[in-house]
Amino acid sequence: MSLPSHVRLIDVGPRDGLQNEKQMVPTAVKVALVQRLQAAGLKEIEVTSFVSPKWVPQMADNAQVMAGLVRQAGVRYSVLTPNLQGFQAALASAPDEIVVFGAASEAFSQKNINCSMAQSIERFAPVVAAALAAGIGVRGAMSCTVGSPYEGEIAPERVSTLAGLMKSIGVQRVDVADTIGVGTPLKVQRALDAALKHFDLDHVSGHFHDTYGQALANTLAALQLGVWNFQSSVAGLGGCPYAKGATGNVATEDVVYMLHGMGIDTGIDLDQLMDAGQFISQFLGRDTASRVAKALLTQRCA
Ligand code: HMG
Ligand code: MG
Repeated sequence: MSLPSHVRLIDVGPRDGLQNEKQMVPTAVKVALVQRLQAAGLKEIEVTSFVSPKWVPQMADNAQVMAGLVRQAGVRYSVLTPNLQGFQAALASAPDEIVVFGAASEAFSQKNINCSMAQSIERFAPVVAAALAAGIGVRGAMSCTVGSPYEGEIAPERVSTLAGLMKSIGVQRVDVADTIGVGTPLKVQRALDAALKHFDLDHVSGHFHDTYGQALANTLAALQLGVWNFQSSVAGLGGCPYAKGATGNVATEDVVYMLHGMGIDTGIDLDQLMDAGQFISQFLGRDTASRVAKALLTQRCA
């Protein structure tokens, strides 16, 4: 079994994490969170989304957050753009990468972005073309690749179909997302294999929510396939407003601890990452969801 020697993490906490918060998080706090993540060594950060403020009010300050960043060379800042309107609004913020987001579940596509899977690809195509023409990278998030809150289990063939459509419109890399965290290692491997029919190993990432406590096991299963790109959320923030009951992504602290313990390099300083997690958890007025941070903070106090 040969595992990757290096893993690249995209922290999606500022977007996937905070989008689900009921209390409004001030722009300055979002900016400060991004700054702390980059100080901890994150080289990719999903900052915000250019979606309808009526649908996701928490992301309404997208342009202000982007404008507030003190960018660090070598860090890639990405934003979600579901349609041309979102892309055009995002352009002034000069993201390094935009993310179009589709689903392997028809019902989830309707609830999340108000259109069918086929319509979503039609909407994404001009966004992808415009981004590539402007020299901006393009990632495609694929939700519900293992299970859907509305349709139950999702067959890998549907993931393969969606990945093929993403590839056909020019998407450069895809995220295989277990949106509601129901996946177990072998099912997740099948979903990743389906994406790997269309994208190579460098262009497929794992995005695992931890609702059922399976996300670290699923991360290990992905590593065993050679996948070395993952999304995670500092302090385990988050959830999707259109996937009721789903909790946040696997905590970045937990992934980093596991990887470092396995001798896999991430370039991330766990202590500084924990500080970022404490900063946002204290603002939100609750304990971190990271098991590793809880354990290490207890030691720090002692
Ligand atoms: P729609 O209502 O079908 O859009 O929404 P529309 O084109 O008919 O326009 C209706 C209104 O929305 C108009 O405003 C537009 O201007 C406005 P009105 O005339 O009524 O005042 N509008 C926009 N405003 C700002 N930015 C835009 C935009 N587009 C239209 N880009 C839309 C379609 C996609 C916009 C809507 O459904 C939406 O915003 N959905 C939110 C989706 C979302 O953010 N979901 C959470 C992120 S996905 C996720 O978390 C999963 C992921 O983490 C992976 C995983 O775990 O699975 C990525
Ligand atoms: Mg997500």
